[in-house]
Amino acid sequence: MKLLKRLFCNNKEELSPSQELIARSKNVLMPLFEPQQVVPSHGEGCYIYDIQGKRYIDFAAGIAVNALGHNHPVMRDAAREQLDKIIHIPGNYLSEPKVRCAELLTTNSCFDQAFFCNSGAEAIEGAIKLSRKWAYETKGPECNEIIAFENAFHGRTMGAASITNKRSSQPFYAPYIDGIHFAVYNDIQSVEELVSDKTAAIFIEPIQGEGGIIPIEATFLKQLRALCDKKKIALVFDEIQAGMGRTGHFYAYQHHGIEPDIAALAKGLGGGFPIGALVAKKAFGNHFDAGAHGSTYSGNPLGTAISSAVLDHILSPGFLDNVREAGQYLYDGLAQIQADTDLIEDIRGLGLMIGVDFPSVKGADLIPLLQKNGMLATASGKRTLRLTPALIVTKDHIDEALEIIKTTLKEAVE
Ligand SMILES: Cc1ncc(COP(=O)(O)O)c(C=O)c1O
Repeated sequence: MKLLKRLFCNNKEELSPSQELIARSKNVLMPLFEPQQVVPSHGEGCYIYDIQGKRYIDFAAGIAVNALGHNHPVMRDAAREQLDKIIHIPGNYLSEPKVRCAELLTTNSCFDQAFFCNSGAEAIEGAIKLSRKWAYETKGPECNEIIAFENAFHGRTMGAASITNKRSSQPFYAPYIDGIHFAVYNDIQSVEELVSDKTAAIFIEPIQGEGGIIPIEATFLKQLRALCDKKKIALVFDEIQAGMGRTGHFYAYQHHGIEPDIAALAKGLGGGFPIGALVAKKAFGNHFDAGAHGSTYSGNPLGTAISSAVLDHILSPGFLDNVREAGQYLYDGLAQIQADTDLIEDIRGLGLMIGVDFPSVKGADLIPLLQKNGMLATASGKRTLRLTPALIVTKDHIDEALEIIKTTLKEAVE
């Protein structure tokens, strides 16, 4: 805290506008987040400006949310156009943006149907309910167990928290939902040991995001799909962080070409507008009949109009090629720092979802130093620095970020 004060307070007596807002927030906001010392005022592309006017290159992108960066004209135009028409209608009314958004999600994937919600956790809740209802109706009422993975993160609502291993450190929310087992990520034997006639679904992230950017292994994924086919288990991908172009493919599953039955989406789906979705193959999605699930805001016209504009842009010719190229350029730049210095231990990830570990400093400890040097990033897992810039990031942006990372690492070990 002392270090942060030194970094962000110009003068010992006088609070900066950011410090002042942080102090005010402490009186009125529940203390669930320790607020970052950078208080953003506005953004443009890959940059954020704080309320003092300082510029930061943004390699957090709202934790893999701002797929098109800040203030992108296609999002602004779509929002303005829809604001002038209608913002909200009940979930059981149709709108052109809702149907169009579902068409974009399904015609460009192995999925047939979509259900819209408002966040990642809600998409996971929907996936839990859909996979359990599918199993109930196709395999029987006893078949309701779910296998999830150690180190995974699926959200904070009760269902999502129940399949998130962190629950063991949050006993105060118990009882969690029944019938959940945790296997070891990338270890098929540990999954096989937990599978039984009662297993309805397996929930997995194609890259563990909050767990420290751990990519799934191709062989494991193949074995997992085969196991699900053999035992008639729903394979559910949590693509909330890794989906919608982040890995250089529209859906993360498309990298390995192994199809899940159901997927949960959010984050990049709205490019910053809060929206989530559940997508499924017909054989699964058809088990959600009228009244089985829903949401007041499902497919809200404003949200789906913005989301359709984001998806159209992500799916435009060459866009995903650029994501893959930029991801490789970032990875190579980090590998060069690793080769030139002894400051980087490990680099992992896919596309523009990259995790970096350091031998002598934790990712979380680098965040305020990076901020001081004009860069935003996030930490994940126990010690990883997570780099998830907007998907529109250029080589110039990446060069700027790499320079800041190099300087910051040298300062951190001094
Ligand atoms: C993989 C994954 N699943 C689920 C969630 C929960 O999403 P939300 O915070 O929108 O509820 C997150 C959020 O970080 C996530 O990364």
